[in-house]
Amino acid sequence: SRSIRLAVIPGDGIGTEVVDEGLKVLQTVGPKVETTTYDLGARRYHATGETLPDAVLAELRDYDAILLGAVGDPSVPPGVLERELLLRLRFDLDHYVNLRPVKLFPGVTTPLAASGPGDIDMVVVREGTEGPYTGAGGAMRRGTPHEIATQESFNTAHGVERVIRYAFDKARGRDRKKLTLVHKTNVLTYAGDLWARTFDRLAAEYPEVTTDYCHVDAASMFFVSQPERFDVIVTDNLFGDILTDIGAAIAGGIGLAASGNVNPDRTAPSMFEPVHGSAPDIAGQGKADPTATILSVGMLLDHLGFTDAAGAIERAVADDLAERGDAVRSTSRIGDDITARVAG
Ligand code: NAD
Ligand code: IPM
Ligand code: MN
Repeated sequence: SRSIRLAVIPGDGIGTEVVDEGLKVLQTVGPKVETTTYDLGARRYHATGETLPDAVLAELRDYDAILLGAVGDPSVPPGVLERELLLRLRFDLDHYVNLRPVKLFPGVTTPLAASGPGDIDMVVVREGTEGPYTGAGGAMRRGTPHEIATQESFNTAHGVERVIRYAFDKARGRDRKKLTLVHKTNVLTYAGDLWARTFDRLAAEYPEVTTDYCHVDAASMFFVSQPERFDVIVTDNLFGDILTDIGAAIAGGIGLAASGNVNPDRTAPSMFEPVHGSAPDIAGQGKADPTATILSVGMLLDHLGFTDAAGAIERAVADDLAERGDAVRSTSRIGDDITARVAG
């Protein structure tokens, strides 16, 4: 069968540790994979000043998919690697859907005493190429008491429509067929108006999908008090970033939260990565949970059409989590255990 051409960007901190385990599982689960590793991240930046050279970006376009660990390091000023490497990949490869499942697996401890696995099973469709993430804005009179810093949220009719349409399609394919728009239309009136009008217009095309709306502050509360309210959520880039860390916390922790930066039109490779960052506080200690990365590998396989292999990973993770309970295990132990499960 065809083999997967995969670009791997382990990145910084625990990124390299969790990616090693994700690749172990990937190389065992079935489809043939040819990987090429790219040393982008803090070390390359310090050595050469480069974050994402144009030639590397061009090369990355030729792969079937990209697996990324995490980028960002305390030795690099905030924003340099995040913007010039990670966000540039998401923007230039047109990853307009940042797909982030929030699912509580059986046996996993949630801080929500009243909730069980059936109550927390949603997908956040986070816009990935616009909003406050474009970098639009500026500073005047920097360093003076009269400094003014602006950071604009950029929302296009095209960008808003395509991500909302994707979310409706996603909701239509799920059991509950419910889609919630999360925004802040009561304050962010220009952007909120565009999102709400677009949402309402598309809703008419999807009569089988139940819709509702939640302001982001209330949605944050409901994530904790009534997560069963949500099935599919569509929201902007920044709200989606924040909500999915809450989602990770309620579904057993940031070490379990997977994501895909998806280009649904397939004009460029999609990129899969855990929701978490480089975790400098635990880097190099073998403490990072690689489960989020392994689940992200499952999403990668699903995106490429290897649904059986994707299902095998999800089942292996579910079984491992059920067996693991609250036991604290090393990065490589978890990777080995899940690899053994997909092997046989
Ligand atoms: P973080 O996600 O790296 O860490 C937050 C907390 O969660 C830390 O206590 C960390 O130890 C813990 N944690 C994270 N992943 C874990 C795992 N797999 N297993 C166990 N514990 C885990 O977020 P942060 O501290 O805000 O950011 C650190 C750096 O990572 C920053 O430079 C930031 O910009 C970057 N970052 C990158 C990405 C990415 O590459 N997609 C995402 C988030 C943050
Ligand atoms: C994430 C991260 C990134 C984001 C940062 C590192 C740019 O927090 O993937 O959730 O805000 O999207
Ligand atoms: Mn984040």
